[in-house]
Amino acid sequence: MIIRMMNSSLDRPLEEAEPSSANRSRHFAYSERKQHFLTGATGLVGSYILRQLLLDNEPVAVLVRQSRRQSPQDRINTMIAHWEQRYQRSLPRPFIMVGDLSDPEWGHRNHEWFSSHCKAILHCAASLQFRGAPGYEPWVSNLEGTRNILQICQRTGIRHLHYVSTAYVAGVQTRFREDQLDDGQTLRNDYEQSKMLAEKMVRGVDFLDSLTVYRPAIVVGDSQTGETTTYHGFYAILKLAHTLAAKMPRGTHCARSLLQALGLTGSEHKNFVPVDWVSRVMYHIYRHPELHGQTYHLTSPRPTPTLDFADVIQNAVETYSTFAPPSQGFTEDWFHTTYADQLDIYRAYIQEDPFFDSTNTQRAAPHLPCPEINSEMLSFLASCAILSDFGKKKTVVKSPRSKSKTLS
Ligand SMILES: NC(=O)c1ccc[n+]([C@@H]2O[C@H](COP(=O)([O-])OP(=O)(O)OC[C@H]3O[C@@H](n4cnc5c(N)ncnc54)[C@H](OP(=O)(O)O)[C@@H]3O)[C@@H](O)[C@H]2O)c1
Repeated sequence: MIIRMMNSSLDRPLEEAEPSSANRSRHFAYSERKQHFLTGATGLVGSYILRQLLLDNEPVAVLVRQSRRQSPQDRINTMIAHWEQRYQRSLPRPFIMVGDLSDPEWGHRNHEWFSSHCKAILHCAASLQFRGAPGYEPWVSNLEGTRNILQICQRTGIRHLHYVSTAYVAGVQTRFREDQLDDGQTLRNDYEQSKMLAEKMVRGVDFLDSLTVYRPAIVVGDSQTGETTTYHGFYAILKLAHTLAAKMPRGTHCARSLLQALGLTGSEHKNFVPVDWVSRVMYHIYRHPELHGQTYHLTSPRPTPTLDFADVIQNAVETYSTFAPPSQGFTEDWFHTTYADQLDIYRAYIQEDPFFDSTNTQRAAPHLPCPEINSEMLSFLASCAILSDFGKKKTVVKSPRSKSKTLS
C-alpha cells in the first residue's frame, strides 16, 4: 500500500512547465548565478557543509524551519556564533528561507532568488524516522520534499542538483555498487523505502545537466571533536542502554543483551562513517565540477564488527552512566526484556551490512581516506555523547586523534 501511494506521487508530472529553453531565457544568464542553496543546514551533515561554504566565503541560501524554541534566524545564528568562536573569525551569514520542505510555498515565495542567483542545489534535508504511515514522516519530507526541490529546479532553470541519499538504499544485499539502485531488493524500513523512491525520482527527471548523488553509510560524530548534533542509529542504541542503566545495579550486561535482542552473533559488520569525513568528501566533490554527475558511496572499507559495537556500549555505560543502588535496581531479566522490546525498531537495521563498493569515491578523493571507526574511536564518540547528556550540556573530552577538544 505504501509503495502504491508513493508510486502515484512519483507518476504525477513535476510541473505545468514552460519548455526549459523559454524558462532559461527569462532568467539571468546561468553564468551570472553564483549562489548555492542548501537544505538540511541545521542537521548533522548539512551543518558541516554550511560551515565549509561560509569559511570559504561562498554565498549561500539555506532552508530552515521554525523549531519549538528558536526562530530560523536564531537557529542559524547560534550555530555560526559557535563556529566564529572556534575559528576566531567572523563568518558571513547565509540568506535564510523560512519553510518546510514538504510545503511548496517557500519555493514560490523565493522564485526570484532561485531564478536570479542560484547555480546549484545541495539537497541534504531528510526525515530519518524509520517508520511512518503514508502521509506522515518519513514519507512527507523525503518524497514530497524532494519533489518540491525538483520543481524549483525545473521552474527556475537550475541545472545542477546534488542529492544526499543513503547507502542503505542497498537494503538486504551482500554487495552493492554505486551504479546500482533498484534491483528488487528488500528494504528494511519506511525510511529506506522513502529514500529509494526519492533517489529514483531525482534520477527520473530530464531537465538537469548534472545529478550528483551522495550515499553515506551510518553517520556518527566528528572523529576529532566527538561533536554531533543528532543522535540517531548508534547513539539511539547507546542512549537506550544509558537510560535503562539508571534503573539497574552496576554490572548489568548491556552488551550481551544488545546482541541477544538484535539476534546478532557479534561477527556481523556495521558501516560507520564520521561526519567530518563525510562532509569533507562531499564538499570536495561539490566544489569540483569534473566530479559531478556520479554516485558516491561515502562508506568505510573497514566496517566495525557488531561485537566491538556492543562492547563499546557496555564499557561506555559501565564507565559513564549512573546505576541504581543494588537494593533499588530492577533485575537483569527486566533489563534484557525491556532493552529487547525497545530495540525492536532497530532489529532489521542492525543486521549484516552489504559490502559497499566505493570505487567512484576512492577515485574522486584518494587524498581523503575514511578514518577507521574502531573500538577506540567508537568509545570516544560514546563517551562524548554520554558526558554531554546527549547534547544537553557542554563538556571537554580527549579525542584519540587529537589532544583535548571542546564539545558544545
Ligand atoms: N545520519 C545518518 O546516519 C545518515 C546516513 C545515510 C544518509 N543520511 C542522509 O544524510 C542527510 C543528512 O542527514 P543528517 O544525518 O544530517 O540528518 P539530521 O541531523 O537529522 O538533519 C536533518 C536535516 O533535515 C532537515 N529537515 C528534515 N525534514 C525537513 C523538512 N520537512 N523541512 C525542512 N527541513 C527538514 C532538518 O531540519 P530540522 O533541524 O528543522 O529538523 C535537519 O536540518 C539526509 O538526507 C539523510 O537521509 C544520513
